[in-house]
Amino acid sequence: MNELQDQVAIVTGAARGIGRAIALKLADEGAKLALVDVKAEWLEESLALVRAKGVEAEGFACDIASGEAVEAAVKAVHGRFGKIDILVNNAGITRDTLLVRMSEADWDAVLSVNLKGAFLMTKAVGRIMMKQRGGAIVNMASVVGLMGNAGQANYTASKAGLIALTKTTARELGPRGVRANAIAPGFVHTAMTDALPEAVREGMLKIIPLGRAAEPEEIADAAVFLAGPRARYITGQVLAVCGGMTMY
Ligand SMILES: NC(=O)c1ccc[n+]([C@@H]2O[C@H](COP(=O)([O-])OP(=O)(O)OC[C@H]3O[C@@H](n4cnc5c(N)ncnc54)[C@H](O)[C@@H]3O)[C@@H](O)[C@H]2O)c1
Repeated sequence: MNELQDQVAIVTGAARGIGRAIALKLADEGAKLALVDVKAEWLEESLALVRAKGVEAEGFACDIASGEAVEAAVKAVHGRFGKIDILVNNAGITRDTLLVRMSEADWDAVLSVNLKGAFLMTKAVGRIMMKQRGGAIVNMASVVGLMGNAGQANYTASKAGLIALTKTTARELGPRGVRANAIAPGFVHTAMTDALPEAVREGMLKIIPLGRAAEPEEIADAAVFLAGPRARYITGQVLAVCGGMTMY
């Protein structure tokens, strides 16, 4: 199909999991890739897989929680590719524990990456997209940002914040042709969820009408759709890709 031929896309947290799956599907559509991750050494495998699809791809080591690092990385991406059409704010972390036991450090760490990181990337890339008068931003939220979840006060608050950030971005940048949408995945089969205790995983599966976890590729399909031309009249929306886990 090559719907995104020669478009330039940044994907954060692209070293593994959902971010890598998104990078690969964007490459299938012909996009050039700037892969961003704090674990620079993990990026090599993603880069090799993406390049094997015949598209240009470059890795950028960056901690998205640092404004300085984000400014430098976005400048480097723009210098390398000359434009930025798509931003996927996918990088995220968890530090789970019950609210009354949660340390300030765990709260700050999760909010810094999941929410502030997306803000910093959107600010740096948004300026470029506004000048270009076009672009698409996809933010990786979560169904728990809509529903809440015991043991994840920091994470759920970060994802709810990310949904609000998406809507404000859509309102502020829409007049310049820049769209912003969020995906709310449910339970996805990745390293993040493999680390959960068996009982928690079984409990999650019970509340999913489709009765199984998603594969990262199923989230990536939604990201490519929202980033691409078929979603040209969609902005400020949250697409839950969760097997029916939440309906709102
Ligand atoms: N796995 C799930 O079930 C699930 C469900 C809902 C939402 N999500 C969200 O999807 C996104 C991807 O999740 P995943 O399961 O692929 O996670 P993952 O842990 O497999 O991958 C996350 C990637 O982000 C990178 N990263 C972490 N901190 C960073 C930072 N400060 N700067 C740059 N990169 C950083 C990591 O190095 C890693 O490569 C996250 O935002 C997560 O919250 C995941």
